[in-house]
Amino acid sequence: MAIAEVNRSDFLVIGSGIAGLSFALKASRKGRVTVITKKGEADANTNYAQGGIAVAVSPEDSFASHIEDTINAGDGLCKAEVVEAVVTSGPRLILELINWGVEFSRTKDGNTLDLGTEGGHSHRRVIHSSDLTGEEIERSLVKAAIKERRIRILEDHLALDLIITDEQGRKVCQGVYVLEPSSGRVIPFLSPNTFLATGGCGQIYLYTTNPDIATGDGVAMAYRAGAEVGNLEFVQFHPTSLCNSGKRAFLISEAVRGEGGKLRLSSGEQFMNRYHPLRDLAPRDVVARAIDIELKRSGQPCVYLDVTHLPPAKVKERFPHIYEKCLSLGLDMTKDWLPVVPAAHYMCGGVITDGWGRTNIEGLYAFGEVACTGMHGANRLASNSLLEALAFADFSYKKATEELGKREIPKSFPPPLEGKIGGEFQEGEWRRISSYKGEIKELMWRLVGIARSDERLKKAGEMIERVLSDVEAFYQANPPQPRSAELRNMALTAWLIIKCALRRKESRGLHYNEDHPDKANGNWAKDTILQRKS
Ligand code: FAD
Ligand code: SIN
Repeated sequence: MAIAEVNRSDFLVIGSGIAGLSFALKASRKGRVTVITKKGEADANTNYAQGGIAVAVSPEDSFASHIEDTINAGDGLCKAEVVEAVVTSGPRLILELINWGVEFSRTKDGNTLDLGTEGGHSHRRVIHSSDLTGEEIERSLVKAAIKERRIRILEDHLALDLIITDEQGRKVCQGVYVLEPSSGRVIPFLSPNTFLATGGCGQIYLYTTNPDIATGDGVAMAYRAGAEVGNLEFVQFHPTSLCNSGKRAFLISEAVRGEGGKLRLSSGEQFMNRYHPLRDLAPRDVVARAIDIELKRSGQPCVYLDVTHLPPAKVKERFPHIYEKCLSLGLDMTKDWLPVVPAAHYMCGGVITDGWGRTNIEGLYAFGEVACTGMHGANRLASNSLLEALAFADFSYKKATEELGKREIPKSFPPPLEGKIGGEFQEGEWRRISSYKGEIKELMWRLVGIARSDERLKKAGEMIERVLSDVEAFYQANPPQPRSAELRNMALTAWLIIKCALRRKESRGLHYNEDHPDKANGNWAKDTILQRKS
């Protein structure tokens, strides 16, 4: 295996979800953009989004109210100036999406956007495309990006590690090493501006709403490179994924509860009134924890979501995709209660950035789910993720284009490849190592789930240390392959989540530790930040 060529571009984007593609579309006005993406163009969490995008546009609503709801959900860790910048950009960013071809659902008269609602919102403000919002956004962005001459999208290209140099004590990102699995080549892609838009890490949990691509690659690459990462203990579990719905848990959107869906125990009891005044529309952390408590108490496998009291025609019209999917599994949601359980859904922490999406490494930005910007704090408000991804892609575009031309990569640079890349992949040994994937998913679910304890976290820490060192040793001794590279990233991301969770000796937002059940203000009202010692 050898370095085949060196690729250069003005903007190097890793990831083709809403964050990566909306950035690429803007950046292409100013220079050449390369988008590296590890599977197909549309393989992204974005493609699965259902509920929609939260934006304060109705006459009854206001930016102040959206800001307040976001900060309340974030439980003391949101950065107010970031929340304000994101929320107030909303209407402009939605117009941009419409100009790129996204069709949002409209009211019957066709004059205004239809607005849904979800947990923690005090007004109807969730703009959506029926219940397939993400698919509509991804389809439109891919279509627009393909037409742009200055955007090159490379599918089936897996970013392995960032290329970092030391410039008189400053860490500088020069690009990324990319594996082209079809040829087995590792290719350095160079750029003065590299943008991590690699999404989340749901796949490190046994049950998740996330597709296969969500293996924490961006956080792991950034940490290995020396970037600050943080708040990873705040893993968001979505309360209502359909029970036993397959390898990727099928989501029943929170918008279903927004339209009047009720959670019930198998006895029929509605239980959310015992947990929060907003009942079924309480913030997501509260609802997921309430379900977890009820399931542990009753020993039942699931709770139920009931929409049978709503007019069937309305259910079918508003949620056609969810209706059809349930029907294909033998459940008619207009007549049957849906069996639901929580599943890992969203990473609130990530690579730490400033208000422009810049990391602590020069030339390296992060936005979208991979980033920790201060928007979500300890718990993300529903439908704020797509909004934040769009906003930070926009802020980063503004900052990066301001900086364009200030730093060039020397013509003589391609860096040597690090580590061993020749030789045969040891299939026999891989069979042993690959079993760690299931072990990680299982241990994260059992020991680092919705309700944690000091003892369980400590045990998880010990287990993951062993897994991580074994997986890393295998990776270093073998030519890289997607399966080993992803496992390496899953192990490191799991280790980082556990480390963050062990540090936070309190319960806040999505992090609940039964040995420290209360929120400890003062010393703990701050981010948990980790950085690799070089
Ligand atoms: P993604 O869309 O996940 O894109 C990441 C990209 O990076 C992918 O193209 C992936 O292939 C690529 N990639 C990853 N690693 C590498 C690598 N090593 N090399 C190359 N490429 C790589 N949020 C809302 O606001 N509203 C909703 O209604 C909503 N519903 C959701 C429903 C579901 C089922 C799920 C799973 C999430 C939902 N979310 C929702 C969350 C939201 O969809 C995501 O947080 C958001 O789409 C993330 O966008 P992104 O561009 O950051 O990442
Ligand atoms: C949903 O539709 O329930 C998901 C919304 C989100 O994750 O913000």
